[in-house]
Amino acid sequence: MYNFFKTRLRSSVLFIFLLGITFSQSVVAQEIIAVKTKSNALVLQVNEQKEVNTIYLGEKLKNDTEYSAISQQFSQGNDYTTIYNSSYTPAGSKNLLEPAINVTHSDGNTSLSLNYVSHKTTNIDNDISLTEIVLKDPVYNFEVTLFIKAFFNEDVIEQWTQIVNKEKGDVVLHKYASANLYFTGNNDFWLNQYHGDWAKEMKPEETHLTHGIKVLDSKLGTRANLFQPSVFMISLGKPASEDEGKVIFAGLEWSGNFRTDLEVDPLNNLRIISGINNFSSDYTLAENESLTTPKFWYTLSNEGKGKASRNLHDWGRKYKILDGNGSRLTLLNNWETTSFDFNEPKLKSLIGDAKELGVDLFLLDDGWFGNSYPRNGDNAGLGDWQINKKKLPNGIGTLIETAVENDVKFGIWIEPEMVNPDSDLYHEHPEWVIKQPERPEHYFRNQLVLDLSNPKVQDFVYNVVDDLFTKNPDLSYIKWDCNAVIYNAYAKHLKNKQSQLSVDYVKGLYAVLKRIRNKYPTVPMMLCSGGGGRVDYGALQYFTEFWPSDNTDPLERIYMQWEYSYFYPSVSISNHVTNWGKQPIKFKTDVAMMGKLGFDIVLDELNNDELKFCQEAIKSYNLLKNTIWQGTQFHLQDPWKNDAASLIFVDEKQNEAVMFTYLVNNRYGAGTTNPIVLKGLDSSKTYKVEEINIYPGTEAAVVTKEYSGDFLMKVGVNPNVNQYHTSIVLKITTVK
Ligand code: GLA
Repeated sequence: MYNFFKTRLRSSVLFIFLLGITFSQSVVAQEIIAVKTKSNALVLQVNEQKEVNTIYLGEKLKNDTEYSAISQQFSQGNDYTTIYNSSYTPAGSKNLLEPAINVTHSDGNTSLSLNYVSHKTTNIDNDISLTEIVLKDPVYNFEVTLFIKAFFNEDVIEQWTQIVNKEKGDVVLHKYASANLYFTGNNDFWLNQYHGDWAKEMKPEETHLTHGIKVLDSKLGTRANLFQPSVFMISLGKPASEDEGKVIFAGLEWSGNFRTDLEVDPLNNLRIISGINNFSSDYTLAENESLTTPKFWYTLSNEGKGKASRNLHDWGRKYKILDGNGSRLTLLNNWETTSFDFNEPKLKSLIGDAKELGVDLFLLDDGWFGNSYPRNGDNAGLGDWQINKKKLPNGIGTLIETAVENDVKFGIWIEPEMVNPDSDLYHEHPEWVIKQPERPEHYFRNQLVLDLSNPKVQDFVYNVVDDLFTKNPDLSYIKWDCNAVIYNAYAKHLKNKQSQLSVDYVKGLYAVLKRIRNKYPTVPMMLCSGGGGRVDYGALQYFTEFWPSDNTDPLERIYMQWEYSYFYPSVSISNHVTNWGKQPIKFKTDVAMMGKLGFDIVLDELNNDELKFCQEAIKSYNLLKNTIWQGTQFHLQDPWKNDAASLIFVDEKQNEAVMFTYLVNNRYGAGTTNPIVLKGLDSSKTYKVEEINIYPGTEAAVVTKEYSGDFLMKVGVNPNVNQYHTSIVLKITTVK
């Protein structure tokens, strides 16, 4: 088979060559659509049959005129080989490959053909361009517009589609992907994907992609990322390292079921089709209705994984994460210390602790609501968002007053999409609950999911938030949780359109979040889903940060935070110091400082040195946080391959940097026996390297000294991490 295709390919190329000018001229005359970013180009071509194919996705050519020569390198007019690279593969006509779109027309016909109609590119600003390519079935009044949004400086592209039914009658969509990419020119593709579970998020696995289709997907509904997030990496040619190799990072901006098909085709090229998971999700479009699919984002780096991550950080902060270039609040949370067991005096004392510690905000977690069914455990009360009168007889107003008196802000936990069967809401509105009428209820953490496809439920969820802010104008922060998946998917409101539930749920969720953001545009909100069960760039446009995992053991967190940090900037990654793990408080704090720092500990349980250490660390963090959040991140030493993990954040002007190094190996003699070579500094500047976060009563492990940037980036510095100094934070500043 392989040889057959190889031979056909070679003879076709020869054929084009022999036919010479006539044939190639007709190819040249066909429309080329080249979308370019700073380093890369995505090139589509309209062929003689008016099909739009992807002919190149890779590093930009030096000479623009040569894009038109690309298609001549493919075999043309061959029954088999011209169909792999469709830019949006329709099902049921001549294409027998995994489709991007599959429909049944209003007359029952199941074939689709999509021909080029027109295209245009609009420059939105100096950085962003939007290319729209209109495709239409030649027989049916059915249209698809491909959208390609290019972020020039960040080297990021977003692709999505709008599917429009102009037929007289319903069209059923069986598959409706966002993007259909094609990578040629490399015979080897290495997939780095992630798997996990509660408290085990972001475990990487790298595999060589073999022929056929590898599917990454989720069918969990709400907490869609619990077992697998939609983010992945593909190295082209050979596995990329931190600073070398061609690699694409990608993911879907969608907080629900997703599906990505990675198909190595018989020509050894890679087809990537990604979008909403079509599993059990036929979507009906009535006449003149349309569906806009979620955005699939990707960045292509020709300089390894580090560059791809920095592209994403810049893009995420600038365009995706709410207030991505802004500031964040350090906090003290009570979940790990009190769980559901608290009352007004206890919380007031914790608010005092927040002040003593020196953080910006106190965050009241789960357990503050429910009266008929008090929320004293995770088995009751969800849905009844009235303040529990027994625990908090004077409401939360008095807590907020105490916070204001202590000069700290006040935030609160909610999980408004959910309901416990033991709640007033469940009894008052059984029709709002997602459950199969003919099946016994099946619970995840003793709860069920409310049907957000129903506008009445959307109003309810919106009002939970709006009431909190209306009654408590000084409320400054929300932690929005989502702890259950969707079992027994059935929504009464959707009647005979049950297969639309997973899509309409997410649309409903986004509609609520949009309403909240219209009224409360800037209030910080943490995106949580029993940890990292719902982290994606679709949701993050409404949130300022996310909770990566309930697992806060700092050793575990080093690995998780490391992996998250490939895809998301540190300003969005919340890390708390808790009682998880037996490591000293310094190690825990140093690990949490590589993102957005928080605490969830009892101050009374700290000795004087521990407390002093935390207070000083927060002060240092406040001075350096802008560099950590907004600076450029470089991974220096990989925890999976070394005794220690090390990374550095460098501010834009290259005047200040913060380097974190953590021991991850407990074995005898483990540590940084060699210098670690720094990255991102200015080689012509002189820097002072100084250890911070030194535990009271101990000596610094690193002697303060001045070095040239050249030295630090060629020889490096040894942070002296070992069994006695398990974590070291270095502040690196230019000498004036
Ligand atoms: C989830 C969150 C935790 C905490 C609990 C409260 O598990 O991930 O941080 O808020 O819910 O029930």
